[in-house]
Order: sequence, then C-alpha cells, then structure tokens
Amino acid sequence: MDLRHLLHGHHDPAAPNAIGRARAYEALSAVVFAGRRQRLYGRLVELSGARPGERALDIGCGTGYLAGLLARSVTPGGTVTGIDPAPAMIDYARRHARRDHCTFAQGVAEELPCEDGTFDLVISSLAFHHIPEDRRERALAEMFRVLRPGGRLLLADYRPPRGRAARRLVGVTVGPVMRDNRVDLLTPLVRGAGFDVSASGDLRPFLHWVRAARPTGAAGL
Ligand SMILES: C[S@@+](CC[C@H](N)C(=O)[O-])C[C@H]1O[C@@H](n2cnc3c(N)ncnc32)[C@H](O)[C@@H]1O
Repeated sequence: MDLRHLLHGHHDPAAPNAIGRARAYEALSAVVFAGRRQRLYGRLVELSGARPGERALDIGCGTGYLAGLLARSVTPGGTVTGIDPAPAMIDYARRHARRDHCTFAQGVAEELPCEDGTFDLVISSLAFHHIPEDRRERALAEMFRVLRPGGRLLLADYRPPRGRAARRLVGVTVGPVMRDNRVDLLTPLVRGAGFDVSASGDLRPFLHWVRAARPTGAAGL
C-alpha cells in the first residue's frame, strides 16, 4: 500500500484525486516539510505580492494552512476564500484557520463556485497535479475567469527530484503522477489560458512556481 491509499479515502468521480483524510495529510506534512513549511509557504505568500485589502482565492486549499498565512497579508480589509473538493479538508480548515478573514467552500478547480472577476489574487499550492490532466486547461480558464482584469495568479506545484534513486522512491511512495509531474508545462499552460507570465522558479525542496497576471482589459476566454 502506498501513501495515496492512506490519504485519499472515499472516491469521488467529480474529484478523483481529492484528499479525504485531513489529519493524515497534516501528519504527513509535518514529516515531509520537516519544519520548513512556514518558511516555504511564507515565501509563496511573498511571491504572490498579497497586500492588505485584497480578495484572495486559494484553490485546492486542503487544511487551510496557506490560506491562514495569506490572511495575515491581506488584512486589514481583505479576505481569503479556500476551495477544496474534500469535505474533510473544508471541515478541518474551518476549524483551524483564522475565522474572521477566511471562508472555505467545497468545489473543484475546473468548476469554481465563484462569480466572474471577483478576486485580486488566485493562489494554489501542490494541488494542480491532483486535477486530472484533461481538465487542467479548464481549471486555468476558471482561474482566469474569477480574477479581475489585472488580478494575479501564483501557481505552485510539486517538482519531482532529478536523481534516479529519489525519483524511484517518489514513485513507490506516492505514485507515478507525482514522480512524473511535468512542471515544465506549467508556464506554457498558464500562457495558453491567456495570462501574462512575469516570473517562474523553484523553491527548495520540491516546489516549482509560476507568477502571472490576467491582462487588464482582456475579455474572458
Ligand atoms: C497535496 S494537497 C495540497 C493542499 C494545500 N494546498 C497545501 O499546500 O497544503 C492537494 C489538495 O488538492 C485537492 N484537490 C484534489 N482534486 C482537486 C480539484 N480537482 N480541484 C481542486 N482541488 C483539488 C485535494 O483534495 C487536496 O486537498
């Protein structure tokens, strides 16, 4: 049995890669991030350029850890909305995040339960590879739709290790989707959805990120 079976729980065809076991995910995160989670996610918040007063959306928010950090940067005056398909993640996030500034709702990236042009910032970490491959363009079109013109996107996803032994270990423990995750395709996919890409890079130990903006004045795709 690999770690996916411990984390995923009940199968939902609308979100086949939803993580249904929030406490197990948090326990695994403590091991995987090895004390670096706050620094790493703090860096994502910095890269996003989140400012007080902004309305931010965290897609695939999981237990709400990043949403909670983001809330510190958008307050006073701003809000964070977290979306995740797994009811257990949403429950956990509601119980643990900064209640006054964060709200959480069930939904999938490829069909966001949000109005057009509502957000200044869309952020997503470690969730893009969970979206089935044939729905990823649709998910990016949704991110574009819910951002206001000029709104920003920070998309961060899992970057597999380059060494053969480490890649094999990832394959055995968490499966081929993570082992073979093509983060090099993120920038062209984001561009293809109509965004202007301003920067991209890696954050050690295992994140690749892309920063982009919805062009001002652009009509929806
Ligand atoms: C590895 S966790 C990352 C959670 C959180 N963003 C973090 O960085 O700790 C991936 C999350 O993506 C969610 N997910 C799975 N399929 C999704 C989809 N189609 N749309 C949005 N989120 C999805 C899972 O339920 C899970 O909570």
